[in-house]
Amino acid sequence: MAYTLEDFCADARAALDRDSGPEGRDRVARHLEKLLVDPDFVAAHLGPDKPSGAETVHVDETHGFRVMAHTNRGPSNNTPHCHGPSWVVYGMAMNHVEMTEWRRVDDGAREGHAELVVDRKYVLNEGEAHVYNEGVIHSLDRPLETRLVRVCGCDLDRTLRYRYDPAKNAVRVLEPRTA
Ligand SMILES: [Fe+2]
Repeated sequence: MAYTLEDFCADARAALDRDSGPEGRDRVARHLEKLLVDPDFVAAHLGPDKPSGAETVHVDETHGFRVMAHTNRGPSNNTPHCHGPSWVVYGMAMNHVEMTEWRRVDDGAREGHAELVVDRKYVLNEGEAHVYNEGVIHSLDRPLETRLVRVCGCDLDRTLRYRYDPAKNAVRVLEPRTA
């Protein structure tokens, strides 16, 4: 049976109504897994002709979560980062991503300095979604082209983000893009 973007948003809203913490977000991830394999949703928002980039396909008025469709037409990776005050769910609609979660081991007392160690590494496969709660440091390695859906707790362009360089034990705070 078809599972539409509207179905997902209604289910996500209901899950967060019951519990806006980690448990509710886990339920959001399970609902997202149904959307990731819906051929009509994928064709409409993550089709083969989409250019690389991100598109916000829904903004929830009650909880403020956002659903974003991401197309990466070639391999790509990024450095460890966290989304500050926002939780994020990543879900794979095409191919897989090699995920690394990092743990910060310094006390945060020195500005610009951060020491990270790898906490866990795993593959997020097509059709799977995973929750990253506030402050969880993660990096993505996409050896193939990918399509993914990201659900964010709030507008990431309006929140501080932290980008880490483990080789240099450095951290940089990225200011919001807009006020
Ligand atoms: Fe991220």
